Amino acid sequence: MLHDGLPSLLGELARIAELPLERGETLPARAYTSEDFYRLERDRIFGSDWVCVGHVAQVAEPGDYLRVDDLGEPLVITRDEHGDLHALSRVCRHRFMDVLPPETTPDQGSLKRLTCPYHTWTYRLNGEFAGQLAGAPLMNKVEFDRAACRLPLHRLEVWHGLLMVCADPDAPPLGPQLADLDATLAPYGLADLVVAYTERWDGVPANWKVAFENGSENYHHMGSHANTLEQILPGKDTVVDECEGRGFSMYTPFAPDMEIPKGPDGVELVSTLLPGLGMRQLSGMTVAGVFPNLAMALMPDGVAFVRWVPRGPATHDALVTSLVPAAAKQRPGFDAYVAASKEQFRVIQTEDLVAIRGVQRGLATDPAPSGGRFSHLERPLWQFQRYLAERLAGVGAMTP
Ligand code: FES
Ligand SMILES: [Fe+2]
Repeated sequence: MLHDGLPSLLGELARIAELPLERGETLPARAYTSEDFYRLERDRIFGSDWVCVGHVAQVAEPGDYLRVDDLGEPLVITRDEHGDLHALSRVCRHRFMDVLPPETTPDQGSLKRLTCPYHTWTYRLNGEFAGQLAGAPLMNKVEFDRAACRLPLHRLEVWHGLLMVCADPDAPPLGPQLADLDATLAPYGLADLVVAYTERWDGVPANWKVAFENGSENYHHMGSHANTLEQILPGKDTVVDECEGRGFSMYTPFAPDMEIPKGPDGVELVSTLLPGLGMRQLSGMTVAGVFPNLAMALMPDGVAFVRWVPRGPATHDALVTSLVPAAAKQRPGFDAYVAASKEQFRVIQTEDLVAIRGVQRGLATDPAPSGGRFSHLERPLWQFQRYLAERLAGVGAMTP
């Protein structure tokens, strides 16, 4: 890659983001392979925009914590004694050790204080003092300002039960930017759901946007998922909402002759229905997404949200969280349901990975392919380009 490649790449992004959907084109292939473009994304998107890091049920009680490694800085989400949530850096202010290293501590748990395991500096987790140094042994013979020593705090917003964090103190609040999705999401009551399970696929050999774009359209049901999802949720019946800004949504009715899907061992893949759903929610699947990297599949019995976390220009991790109503966990057979649901997810993900890896191989060819065209079902991909152009090339301002 030539070093002058980035300006021309951003120029091409800006040009493409001006096109109407009817003449929309795929992003330049180099946007999925270039180191320079990737560094810019790390800086202007993942390092400074709102990104989903989990669900409130993962930090339900005072003292609970959730480790987050999805952004540039390692974080821990904590809940204090008042029930308020905090997003703290995990980089100890002494010699910068990870205060909750994954080698020795679980991803989630409960803590009264944070103690760095290296030289045992401790940090408070309560209320307004969250992150404040509580103790640093053998530091009394040097000049050291304890009061000024504090783990940096990131901004955190809870949006429909999802934990959204942002490193930029000046970024506008997220909720108003996503107001268009409120009515679509409200019936599902996401904030009241609990986690059934999480799954992850680490080190997928494709740029994160390839996977996010795959998760943002149902057009591929007829190809990648011909024998699975397409039988229940035919892609051609999807209606994509005309959203603007950084959120999108679409709805696919269940196939009229659909049979209740079963897992490989014959267990029915239906859990307890979410309370209070209307006919529309009971009759199909809603997909909603938030740029940069979150997509949700909202079903009558639960919600799965997926985040695609970049690990390099051509590598990402895919993180899945399955949410169900609390009552589902009491139901006999819940463990069998979870096992069957996980297996089903693996089947679908295996199908998606064939496309995701295959697209990345196509993008990396020389000469690079260009000028791919969109179906009307790929509106979210076209919308995503406007988001990218605004964040990376400073083009236009998205309508909230
Ligand atoms: S690096 Fe944390 S106490 Fe030394
Ligand atoms: Fe898929």
